[in-house]
Amino acid sequence: MKQVTTIAELRAELTGQGAVGFVPTMGYLHEGHLSLMRRSRAADDVVVASIFVNPLQFAAGEDLDAYPRDLDRDTALATEAGVDLLFVPDVTEMYPRPVLTSVSVDELASVLEGATRPGHFTGVATVVAKLFSIVGPGRAYFGEKDFQQLQIVRRMASDLSLPVEVVGCPIVRESDGLAMSSRNVYLTAEERRAAPVLRRALTAGDYLVARGETSPAAIAAAMTHVVTDEPLAELDYAACVDPATLRPPDRVAPAMQLRLLVAARLGKPRLIDNIGASAPVSE
Ligand code: PAJ
Repeated sequence: MKQVTTIAELRAELTGQGAVGFVPTMGYLHEGHLSLMRRSRAADDVVVASIFVNPLQFAAGEDLDAYPRDLDRDTALATEAGVDLLFVPDVTEMYPRPVLTSVSVDELASVLEGATRPGHFTGVATVVAKLFSIVGPGRAYFGEKDFQQLQIVRRMASDLSLPVEVVGCPIVRESDGLAMSSRNVYLTAEERRAAPVLRRALTAGDYLVARGETSPAAIAAAMTHVVTDEPLAELDYAACVDPATLRPPDRVAPAMQLRLLVAARLGKPRLIDNIGASAPVSE
């Protein structure tokens, strides 16, 4: 694996290469990230990954400075996962001047995560658009772990006719159901034991959907109940939405595809999780 820190070096390395697959990350890699890299390894000629903790997507008071980093470990893991080229720019390489140009994906960015993190998704869409322009991938891999981010990146690529296929990949979980996240290292032992409550809430919501519940509010309320029963968890939202609009449907119709999402603070970190749910077909 080769590691580069400048845009010029990256472009030089990629000239004349075949189909490029791309996995953007903020580092502190875990099995979730590695699953995306392996997926690209199986499908693309050249696998490019990036590690960049993007200041544009952190609000004041969020964990930008504290965001966990371990480049030596990340380099070893990325090599093992089959990455050919690792792009690790610093902030001045990516943003040598104040950024006057940004990409925002209006309606999709104002709900759920966007409601508590204003500006977050503009920061994400802007850096992803810039990384796409630098790397020029044919395919780019994103985890369903950040479902709203995945939908926003898909919509951005489609709205701007970017020549990239955005591939969504399943959530990788710990054995007790907790979705893997770089931020899980912030959890104390006690919080870590409580953390699978998010996944339990989603399972409770999915059960109601499968049983034929037609009220998105009732499904959200069942998920809320599970999280508020856990004293260490402070619920931010529980939602049952149409995956395309990220808004609750008026009623759940037969065979409808839904996304159930939860976010909660557990001590320091704010954790998110989601699952797909399918309404039963009517008899
Ligand atoms: P980061 O949080 O490092 O995540 C990088 C990619 O890994 C994202 O597509 C994310 O959805 C995926 N991922 C994280 N945990 C996962 C899990 N448990 N299972 C499957 N995939 C998982 O998301 C970002 O970075 C940034 O916002 C970025 C897109 C790099 C833009 O700065």
